[in-house]
Amino acid sequence: MIIRNELSGDIDPIYQLTKAAFEGRPYAAGDEQDVVNRLRTIGTLTLSLVLEIEAQVVGHIAFSPAMNSDGSGPWMALGPVSILPSHQCQGLGSELIMEGLKIIEGQGTAGCILTGNPQYYSRFGFEPAPENSPVSEPSEYFQIKRFSSLVPQGRFSFDPAFYGE
Ligand SMILES: CC(C)(COP(=O)(O)OP(=O)(O)OC[C@H]1O[C@@H](n2cnc3c(N)ncnc32)[C@H](O)[C@@H]1OP(=O)(O)O)[C@@H](O)C(=O)NCCC(=O)NCCS
Repeated sequence: MIIRNELSGDIDPIYQLTKAAFEGRPYAAGDEQDVVNRLRTIGTLTLSLVLEIEAQVVGHIAFSPAMNSDGSGPWMALGPVSILPSHQCQGLGSELIMEGLKIIEGQGTAGCILTGNPQYYSRFGFEPAPENSPVSEPSEYFQIKRFSSLVPQGRFSFDPAFYGE
């Protein structure tokens, strides 16, 4: 298993695996694969890691800058994260998430936000933060993992690429 930065040849495999991973999920917006492309086009796909097994890209994680209305930061947003359905529940998603968090923490990021299932993300140190949720997101799924003592006071916003802009 290799985790590495995306290369130009990974763009289509990332698109396809993200589409396959989210397909049919009740919480999926259906455009997660397009979000990755939009982040890349806008230039806000700050960190894009792929997980490769026997020369096949089977996992991907994206990180992009996030803003807080209090002007604090820098903050990053995790997602989308996807593992090919045939390879899910083998610990690969956890490997990608832990590697990505390690990298952005090492870059001096104050913390990482996401919208996702707290049952899953609590194992990586994410905590619910409904008071900091963007108004457009379901606040009960909004979580943060802080890398520093900085406590955000305002509401976060994700990159416009998440909203099709
Ligand atoms: C979420 C995802 C990236 C996790 O990767 P993975 O390699 O399957 O997960 P791991 O093997 O590291 O961890 C497996 C654990 O995660 C749990 N899990 C996986 N997806 C979950 C989800 N969406 N919600 C809650 N728990 C989830 C499994 O039940 C399992 O729990 P256990 O360890 O208590 O048995 C992957 O399942 C996936 O691509 N899902 C579809 C896309 C998606 O939902 N992305 C995240 C959106 S926020």
